[in-house]
Amino acid sequence: MSLVVRILMIGAVFTLPAIAPASAQKVGDADAGLAYASRSCAGCHAIDPLTERSPNPAAPTFRSIASAPGMTLTAFNVWMTTGHKDMPHLIVPIDQREDLYSYIATMKRPN
Ligand code: HEC
Repeated sequence: MSLVVRILMIGAVFTLPAIAPASAQKVGDADAGLAYASRSCAGCHAIDPLTERSPNPAAPTFRSIASAPGMTLTAFNVWMTTGHKDMPHLIVPIDQREDLYSYIATMKRPN
């Protein structure tokens, strides 16, 4: 194999991953987030947009979390990776946090 071909191939390997996220556009998968939430969060939080009250009255509904001022993926990640008095410290992997946030964001009220 010629050196030029090898260099081109190496270039392709390094360029492809850089292009892929740009074409994916959205962060996280809302459907996967809903599935994750129904397994891990629904015991305490109302996770659908229509339920007004959470199973655990101390836990805000996902709809109210979605519309809380300053609720961004960054704020959500901070919440999910720090400890809380009344909510158990759940270890949620980064991909699932993005899915969850993407699902929660579907309930944001237009401000
Ligand atoms: C055992 C009950 C319980 C479970 C399970 C639980 N939470 Fe919570 N969560 C709470 C309570 C109670 C609060 C509010 C009180 C507090 O400050 O700790 C809360 C608060 C939050 C907040 C902060 C809301 C705000 O206004 O800042 C977020 C975000 C959140 N939960 C997300 C999640 C996600 C995502 C899951 C599932 C991966 C989850 N919670 C699972 C009980 C729970």
